[in-house]
Amino acid sequence: MSPYAHIAGWGMYVPARVLTNQDLERMVDTSDEWIRARTGIVERRIAGEKESTSTMAVEAARRALARANLSPRQLDAIIVATISPDYLTPATACLVRAALGADRAAAFDVSAGCSGFLYALSLAQMGIAAGEWRCVLIIGAETLSRFVNWEDRSTCVLFGDGAGALVLVASEEPGGVLACVLGADGSGAELLSIPAGGSRMPAAPETLSQRAHTIQMDGRAVYRFATHILPEAVEQVMRKAGLPLSAVDMIVPHQANMRIIEAARKKLGLPEEAFFVNLYRYGNTSAASIPIALCEIADHELINDGSIVVLVGFGAGLTWGAAAVRWGVPLPQPARPWYQRAFYLGRAVLHRLPAFLRKLLYRLWQWLPSRGGEE
Ligand code: UT7
Repeated sequence: MSPYAHIAGWGMYVPARVLTNQDLERMVDTSDEWIRARTGIVERRIAGEKESTSTMAVEAARRALARANLSPRQLDAIIVATISPDYLTPATACLVRAALGADRAAAFDVSAGCSGFLYALSLAQMGIAAGEWRCVLIIGAETLSRFVNWEDRSTCVLFGDGAGALVLVASEEPGGVLACVLGADGSGAELLSIPAGGSRMPAAPETLSQRAHTIQMDGRAVYRFATHILPEAVEQVMRKAGLPLSAVDMIVPHQANMRIIEAARKKLGLPEEAFFVNLYRYGNTSAASIPIALCEIADHELINDGSIVVLVGFGAGLTWGAAAVRWGVPLPQPARPWYQRAFYLGRAVLHRLPAFLRKLLYRLWQWLPSRGGEE
């Protein structure tokens, strides 16, 4: 019998800075009324100068690990879903691995637009079911504020920054992730993209002046795709899980637009309370939106042991995905004794010491000649 992938911990992080619709009114030709009516968004979070996708991912991950009562060393894999990584290479997951001291874990990113978190979840579930991994950290993290053209009112009002993480553990107990469906249609690639900065259009003065490093979107076309794919993906994943649609307790949709969610809800014939919505506070945080929403649901105990939760998303690619989960948190692991915690702490300090000393010596070396030059 294959092991089941259970959600053992969850954590989220959003930056402190809030950007309201009123703030945006002062930046571009828009209005609070338009943004609320067309999207449902009221405010979003914007990363601080020292924050990036990896730093937010690490914060969310630490909270998820603490909740699961697991140490980073127990992780077999770290998967980060993002379209706004710290670097083109290396993967943001590798930076997270280093910051956590998860020195046994494989680490890689997935890029599947706003559906990225569902792709990561599906991979983690497959790795666990195959018996390859016992403990996997998946994170959706985005710093979209760095990829938005702040002069383009049709996109800049939509996006926000943040991160959400889940820890999945193998268990022989039936439950956890019951089924996943993933899909993609690359013929819609141009509908939502960041055209420059890759190998097709490398960074150059012209690409910068054309703002080609920022998000370009045909909003109406993406809207049509989303309203059709959301209900379809929910129905597909429930069929795959062998459950009727009426068994759903909570749907956690990608938080892009209230009107998209409402259209999907009507098509599915489900009541308003079946859909969780928090986009009015965070805007569209792409791959981070579903895990952030799931964290809020779990923290506010809106779901119980045995609840059937469907996560569903769509995004750039075009991509889509859905996952059906039977909620039920495995019993917390017993707290580790003090000597084990001291051992892990000591190891982590020793692990970082060479890099710290290297940096210190480098700084010293840089400082000495300049001092010599001044004298
Ligand atoms: O995560 C996946 C990624 N993206 C999405 O899910 C986005 C999907 N699309 C949407 O959510 C919607 O298409 C938008 C919210 C992006 C746009 O809403 P819409 O109802 O489709 O508006 P529209 O693009 O058809 O534009 C309607 C009007 C236009 O003016 P005219 O041509 O009718 O005079 C726009 O220029 O609204 C204008 N407009 C704005 N007005 C005030 C566009 N953006 C704004 C704005 N403030 N921020």
